[in-house]
Amino acid sequence: MDRIRIRGGNELRGTIPISGAKNAALPLMIASLLTDDTLTLENVPHLADVEQLIRILGNHGVDYSVTGKRIGQEPGLGRTIHFTARNIVDTTAPYELVSKMRASFWVIGPLLARMHKARVSLPGGCAIGTRPVDLFIDSLRALGATIEIDRGYIVAEAPGGLKGARYVFPKVSVGATHVLLMAASLARGETIIENAAREPEIVDLAACLNAMGAKISGAGTPTITIEGVTALSGARHRVLPDRIETGTYAMAVAMTGGDVTLQGTSADLLSQALGTLGQAGVGVEALDGGIRVFRNGGGIQAVDVMTDPFPGFPTDLQAQFMALMTMADGTSRITETIFENRFMHVQELARLGAKIQLSGQIATVEGVRRLAGAPVMATDLRASVSLVIAGLAAEGETLVNRVYHLDRGFERLEEKLRACGAEVERISG
Ligand code: EPZ
Repeated sequence: MDRIRIRGGNELRGTIPISGAKNAALPLMIASLLTDDTLTLENVPHLADVEQLIRILGNHGVDYSVTGKRIGQEPGLGRTIHFTARNIVDTTAPYELVSKMRASFWVIGPLLARMHKARVSLPGGCAIGTRPVDLFIDSLRALGATIEIDRGYIVAEAPGGLKGARYVFPKVSVGATHVLLMAASLARGETIIENAAREPEIVDLAACLNAMGAKISGAGTPTITIEGVTALSGARHRVLPDRIETGTYAMAVAMTGGDVTLQGTSADLLSQALGTLGQAGVGVEALDGGIRVFRNGGGIQAVDVMTDPFPGFPTDLQAQFMALMTMADGTSRITETIFENRFMHVQELARLGAKIQLSGQIATVEGVRRLAGAPVMATDLRASVSLVIAGLAAEGETLVNRVYHLDRGFERLEEKLRACGAEVERISG
């Protein structure tokens, strides 16, 4: 298994291009199941999760092709991929595939809408919490589906097709909002979703569905209205920039010091997190087509944060922010409200010398003057990258094990960091 070796202590200076968002690309790819026409997605990041979903969609009958490189195009950044689900050959998403990636469960929405049936394995537990699927079941039932659970599978049917309805989510869910958007696009009549997730990735999916002929309004607000249509067509859509990758590199610069331009992203996608960095004493400047993050030699102040659905502070940046707070002046309280078990990085940060007390959903981080490199390992994507950030600022060598987590969500991480002066290398095997 690959590992990443970091020799800490270098400031980061230069430019980091931000990739297309993993969490937008995945639902957009799944939306290709809604039409027999070709959906072309630009700026698709080259990630293990994307490759895995391509395999899963292939099992349902989705063909894909990648457009070749063009003259002047930078190597490796964002690909254009064409997805065509001319014929859906299988409406079952088997355990072997769904258990590898939770988002693949979301195929239930388009399969049910287009084929009027779906049999999808329950996604199962995950390292960050129990992550149930009750909201998917309730909301699809509201659209007229009958749903049963049979030997680990959700068996959903809507023989006469789905029917529009008003559904109020009792709790905000990104995935269930994605699924209901896709399902309602091909339902008969009007669907109104209340307490919808407002994440930029929801807005991106709605924009793509509208380009395919759907009639969706209100995405990005708590109330989304969908006027069902009988068929959707192909479209061409560009995946929005990755706000979590953006925030991750912003926190890396905050931690090491230096001055970096994050290119091809937008401060509007993460104003809460950037505001928090500002309070901590980090320089953040919105540019045309990017963000500049810098430190003027001053220290980092401790700031309290609480994760929340968008526009709140993202849970997907909680681990990275905790890494930053380990070397802040003072003590910060970090409260995780989205997932009940998303503190797997705490004990690993402690190996580097961090002082963190955990009590339920609250981590109290007492800033220390220095971290010292050590071997570490993490059990999920964002926790892994928080260890990379801490390693960049730690004295000596940090070895991050189980790099495959990072490959699920960060395109060319080592290369991007190295280009800004970090000493980072991958050790194969
Ligand atoms: C999405 O997961 C993201 N994944 C996650 O990113 C992200 O952490 C999360 O949203 C929150 O922002 C993708 O977009 C692929 P939820 P999702 O449904 O949709 C509970 C990463 O690192 N819930 O909004 O699965 C759930 O347990 C990943 O890139 C129910 O109770 O998250 C959680 O407490 C990790 N019942 C809360 O809702 C349900 O039926 C929010 O989860 C569904 C969810």
